[in-house]
Amino acid sequence: MQLEWDDSLACGHPLIDAQHRQLLELIVALDSSADVQLEGDAAYSLLGTLSDYVKNHFSDEERWMEEIGYPELAAHREEHARFVDHNLDNARELLCHGSMPKADLVHHLTQWLLTHIKGSDHRIAEWAAAHGRQ
Ligand SMILES: [Fe+2]
Repeated sequence: MQLEWDDSLACGHPLIDAQHRQLLELIVALDSSADVQLEGDAAYSLLGTLSDYVKNHFSDEERWMEEIGYPELAAHREEHARFVDHNLDNARELLCHGSMPKADLVHHLTQWLLTHIKGSDHRIAEWAAAHGRQ
């Protein structure tokens, strides 16, 4: 599973690319943190940091879409909201109660992020380039 940034992930928007890169780094840190599944442990607090970072990043990305008048903003915003509601907000609970091993959580978060960047996020960049609104 790809956990390192490479140029195939780039959208060409400096802030968004820097944030995506940082998100991958936070997932790597989570992956290499201690396996203890108790509140207060490294994995638990890293997941909190990751969660906050993701929410800020989604806000910035949604602002970018607003600024360029991206027509699929509503659907994209919904995709973000579903991820936060269904995955991110209960991830700490799942980890804390041991109902999801950390490795599975890391795999799931990484898969979602990479699929989202290479699909939905790249479509923003393609639309922006095609309409001269980068
Ligand atoms: Fe996105």
